[in-house]
Amino acid sequence: MHLVAQDLAFAYPGRDVLAGVSCTVSDGTRLGVVGENGSGKSTFLHLLAGDLQPKSGEVRRHGSVALVEQELHPTPGQTIGDVVAGTLDGLRAAAAELEAAAAAFDHGSGDLAVLERTLSHAEHLAVWDADRRVEVALTRLGAPRDHGRRLDRLSVGERFRVRLACRLAERSDLLLLDEPTNHLDDSAIEFLTGELVAWRGGVVLVTHDRELLDDVATAILDLDPSWDGKPVLYGQPGYLAYRFAKNQSLHRWRQRYRAERKRAAALAERLDESYEGLSDEWRPAKGSQKHRRATHARIHVKAADRLVQKLEAEAIEVPVPPVELLFPDLPAMSPGWDPAQPVVEVRSPRVGLSHGRDDDGARLDLPGTRVAVPPSGRLLIVGPNGTGKSTLLGALAGTLELDRGSRFVAPGARIGVVGQESEPITGKARLRTGFETYADEALRLLSSGELDPDHVVPVAGLGLLSEEDLDRPLAELSAGQRRRFELARALLHAPHVLLLDEPTNHLSIDLVDELTRALQVTPCAVVVATHDRRMRSDLEDWPVLDLS
Ligand SMILES: Nc1ncnc2c1ncn2[C@@H]1O[C@H](COP(=O)(O)OP(=O)(O)OP(=O)(O)O)[C@@H](O)[C@H]1O
Ligand SMILES: [Mg+2]
Repeated sequence: MHLVAQDLAFAYPGRDVLAGVSCTVSDGTRLGVVGENGSGKSTFLHLLAGDLQPKSGEVRRHGSVALVEQELHPTPGQTIGDVVAGTLDGLRAAAAELEAAAAAFDHGSGDLAVLERTLSHAEHLAVWDADRRVEVALTRLGAPRDHGRRLDRLSVGERFRVRLACRLAERSDLLLLDEPTNHLDDSAIEFLTGELVAWRGGVVLVTHDRELLDDVATAILDLDPSWDGKPVLYGQPGYLAYRFAKNQSLHRWRQRYRAERKRAAALAERLDESYEGLSDEWRPAKGSQKHRRATHARIHVKAADRLVQKLEAEAIEVPVPPVELLFPDLPAMSPGWDPAQPVVEVRSPRVGLSHGRDDDGARLDLPGTRVAVPPSGRLLIVGPNGTGKSTLLGALAGTLELDRGSRFVAPGARIGVVGQESEPITGKARLRTGFETYADEALRLLSSGELDPDHVVPVAGLGLLSEEDLDRPLAELSAGQRRRFELARALLHAPHVLLLDEPTNHLSIDLVDELTRALQVTPCAVVVATHDRRMRSDLEDWPVLDLS
């Protein structure tokens, strides 16, 4: 397989997203793609897949392609069996095509090398083995395997794993993955890593998972701004090499910028002097050689003007400082609370199958277990997919009802919740901007008495989204930008306790770091459920509840 993307540019209506993106992917290339939320990573994958067309530049591709999107919206009624059948049908068709090409081979004039490649590819697709491969991939990724189950009644993570398993079993020449670890536990990531390292074709992988980049990526393409405005391709394998090279180049960029500023300042001074010379012309001293002085001054001004113009034309832009998270000052307690009492607690929680979903991952039964979160408390909930991490958070938040056991919340306690996945935005809400949605939420909380005006945390000051992005309809934002908004919304009423379900999903590498640091020091209590290897090790000194 071979893929060449040359000088790609793309724009959504009224919004430039990518410019000057080039890359080459061949067999064995595993290109990692990184960049801030909203930098265009998902858009880039769609351009490579051919389902979006670039504004300029071109994509040339030989070979089959499979894209596993960041968010999957199932067709109503579609079942796991339908997805599996799609994979198997596709494989059969591809194998038949290859066999036909081999059969039509002309022994006199045909190119034997081409025939060999064709046969080897048919072997690689191994259609006779495809059912087993799908089953293995479903099992190893921890995806449900009952073919009759409907996709729209699975959890987001289960749906993602079904899709990923089928795409892996397809063995396409080019595999495009968008944040694949968001819904995978350790053993599933281990399987994925093995598959990618052994992938025969090319892989383009968007991810914020540093370990995965280290284990898999042969090069990294960074879509964040650089000094010449073009994305930078870092040719060394692994995350650490990329980070080192990027820090170096940021350093050089800042140095060049400082040097240029100095030159500009010196020139400005010269220009001022020349103007002074000119103004003397209007008030010549008595007996001076008026004409000579005036000509001199004009030459000076012209020269300086030209230099300034040149400098402006070649100006290096300031390295855009990345938006930095400004975590608000959250309270530990309300006046009158007994610090020995938990802010929120559940005892012996049991939650049955959730309503409307035949999802057995939503079950939780912890007889004799007390999960209590004191003021400023910390708790890390871990465990493989399906062990009930989200259910326990739901029980603590009060959004899931307990079949058995009890829940206690300190009177007046404010709880901020970030769910595992963004809620789909539908109907009129699609047109509401971030600012409007935030204001709606604030008004709702104020009128229900859950929030007093002194506690409103302003959204624009959090460093999660720029004012420009907050002024856009939420439905237009990228997955990570929407996730940032949800985090902001959880902070709106200055909560006493934050319940965060897989908070690293969809967030950029830098924000994950900033958020982790903020969670370590905030006075408010924090409960995090996560499978994220990096976050788990960063929070290793927190009390852990392991549901495995
Ligand atoms: N349909 C759309 N209409 C208008 N703007 C869009 C649309 N889809 C995406 N955008 C904007 O284009 C930019 C790039 O989006 P994209 O989803 O490619 O980013 P991303 O790098 O994948 O982000 P994330 O890390 O959050 O997944 C963002 O600013 C996003 O808001
Ligand atoms: Mg994306």
